Amino acid sequence: MSQVNDSNKIQGKPDYVLGTHNQEHARLGMQHSLWREFVLDAWKRAEIGSGSSVVDVGAGPGFATMDLAEIVGATGHVTAVEISSKFVQEVKDQANARGFNNVNVHIVDLMHEDIPLVSAGAGFDAAWCRWVCMFVADVGALVRRIHGSLRAGGVAVFHEYVHYETYGLQPPTPGIDSFTQAAMESFRARGGNANIAGTLLKELRQQGFEIVSIKPIARSARPHEPLWQWPAGFIRTYLPRLVELGHIDNAFAANVLDELARAEQDPQSIMLTPTVLEIIARK
Ligand SMILES: C[S@@+](CC[C@H](N)C(=O)[O-])C[C@H]1O[C@@H](n2cnc3c(N)ncnc32)[C@H](O)[C@@H]1O
Repeated sequence: MSQVNDSNKIQGKPDYVLGTHNQEHARLGMQHSLWREFVLDAWKRAEIGSGSSVVDVGAGPGFATMDLAEIVGATGHVTAVEISSKFVQEVKDQANARGFNNVNVHIVDLMHEDIPLVSAGAGFDAAWCRWVCMFVADVGALVRRIHGSLRAGGVAVFHEYVHYETYGLQPPTPGIDSFTQAAMESFRARGGNANIAGTLLKELRQQGFEIVSIKPIARSARPHEPLWQWPAGFIRTYLPRLVELGHIDNAFAANVLDELARAEQDPQSIMLTPTVLEIIARK
């Protein structure tokens, strides 16, 4: 476990590819509220409830952590683990602002450090892990650490992508489709894999988890619907990052933005999200 320091990450470790700036904080907040109904449903089916002890793996700024803290109540507790010290501080700030005494937070690089069991005794009842496996170099190592943090019979709940390529307009358009490809390439270039869910399933089975439930989730939105802002917003915030990382140039970005703006002028436009696979697995 590492100490909180003034930088945004553990000293010497690369930051995660989407960044930890305020715009990403806001995007993660919007994303959480748009996916909340699916998340609450998954947690309910995984029997996360009053009194549960839960670890939020790669918690980001802690939007799910706060919901978990409310659900498990004063007799339960939530541990958030996260590589970015900026996000860790934000989890602490949110928990303090909301008066949650049942949350603790640790800076952990899940590729190199175990999940601390400080308040979990023989292990957590449940682990929640969303959109983290896709960014790590070794998902097997992550699964091993989650396995090590759970009690016997504990459950791990994942939301990760299984088919990122569904992301885009229907009918498909060349600019936005090539944005999807460039985004996937940017994750790959940093050792990640957008379509990690299949490998995750394999690792879970190899490491002795029983797969309790599988649910693919593909969603669609029209420009006036709140959900539209999630895929469209990611295009707008991630294009400059793709330019900065050297995956695309300004002309490519301008073309994608133009295509998106034209789509938004037609209220009947349809955007599909990347397809998520929900996995509930028992140790
Ligand atoms: C897309 S965000 C998802 C955040 C949160 N799970 C959510 O659903 O809102 C991915 C998170 O994984 C964290 N992360 C990436 N690699 C990590 C690692 N090796 N150890 C711990 N956290 C990591 C990032 O810092 C980031 O906060």
